[in-house]
Amino acid sequence: MVRRAATVVSDALPLFDLARRWSLEREDALAAFERIASAGAFSLGKDLAAFEAEFAAFCGTAHCVGVANGTVALELALRGCGAGPGSEVVTVAHTFVATVEAIAATGATPVLVDIDAATRTLDPAALEAALGPRTTAVVPVHLYGRPADMAAIRAICAPRGVPVVEDAAQAHGARLGERRAGALGTAGSFSFYPTKNLGAMGDGGAVTTDDDEIAALVRSLRHHGSAPGDANRHVYAGGTERLDNLQAALLRLRLRLLDDENAQRRAIADRYRAGLRGLPLTLPPEDASDMTSVSHLFVIETDHRDALRAALAEDGIATGVHYPTPVHMQPAWRHLGYGPGDLPTSERAARRVLSLPIFPGMDNAEVERVCAAVQRALTI
Ligand SMILES: Cc1ncc(COP(=O)(O)O)c(C=O)c1O
Repeated sequence: MVRRAATVVSDALPLFDLARRWSLEREDALAAFERIASAGAFSLGKDLAAFEAEFAAFCGTAHCVGVANGTVALELALRGCGAGPGSEVVTVAHTFVATVEAIAATGATPVLVDIDAATRTLDPAALEAALGPRTTAVVPVHLYGRPADMAAIRAICAPRGVPVVEDAAQAHGARLGERRAGALGTAGSFSFYPTKNLGAMGDGGAVTTDDDEIAALVRSLRHHGSAPGDANRHVYAGGTERLDNLQAALLRLRLRLLDDENAQRRAIADRYRAGLRGLPLTLPPEDASDMTSVSHLFVIETDHRDALRAALAEDGIATGVHYPTPVHMQPAWRHLGYGPGDLPTSERAARRVLSLPIFPGMDNAEVERVCAAVQRALTI
């Protein structure tokens, strides 16, 4: 049962406020843009190389290759692991559709498995059942900023020699033990879409890996399959998939703030947990003992999702649904042959998930406003 607000609040609270940080970075960002514009160094410039070195060091990998977006990052990382026509790549259906698009773009067939209900990430038991002779790679998704169960996934994949490519688009800076997302598998793919924990002013992405051959292949593929040191010799069929120098310069500035901004997100998540405890809804899972997730989204679950969402909207509070339809039930992916009921935990999550506002700079009063509105809506 969900109650509607008696009064309408005028101040709108967005799901993400991407403009709020501009005043903090304005001076440094404009100086970087001025430096690049006056040098005319827009493509494959020094800032890109510097960002790649800094992000590799941040993640703890030998290599980082900046690419055009997170979808291409995953596609190229998978091609580096041998995915292509005739092979299969296993992933989850409870993810942004880009995960599956990237697999299909390699020519491989996506094999979709269910999530674990508690962690909302790839269920290792379901993975084990889905592996077959044509499996070329597995893509766990660190959804909402929480690392997937990488120890169990690696234990299943390593003895079979199956590479694991992390979809870390929502998990920049997350940790499992001593290692960060992007350094937990054979390779990692990141998105720098503006709403991500590390976001650009447009599209961007990166592949991280310790594997010299994967890094070299991705580096070549992002730039028309060029040979190292000879841009006019094309050794692979690649494309225009570089990360722009301007975006790289901005990402360098934002990377310095990332740990602090992730800590702010976690503090907001803790405040939500305290404010929403005891209400008839499911809170996001707590971190496991050796885990630091990065609260990309704060996703609650309730059977009354749509009514709660409408009540919050009346209170001026924006929410999101990530994601309302699992990939196996999307029209574009019906040909994979799955139907309703095939991935029941994913389908249940899709009916129940609701993302509350969370972004660096969100203040305590705003978090408390959301908690009060949820409480009002759910308490009779
Ligand atoms: C889980 C996941 N994978 C992949 C992507 C694709 O990233 P992009 O939008 O940069 O292509 C995104 C983000 O949009 C994502 O959230």
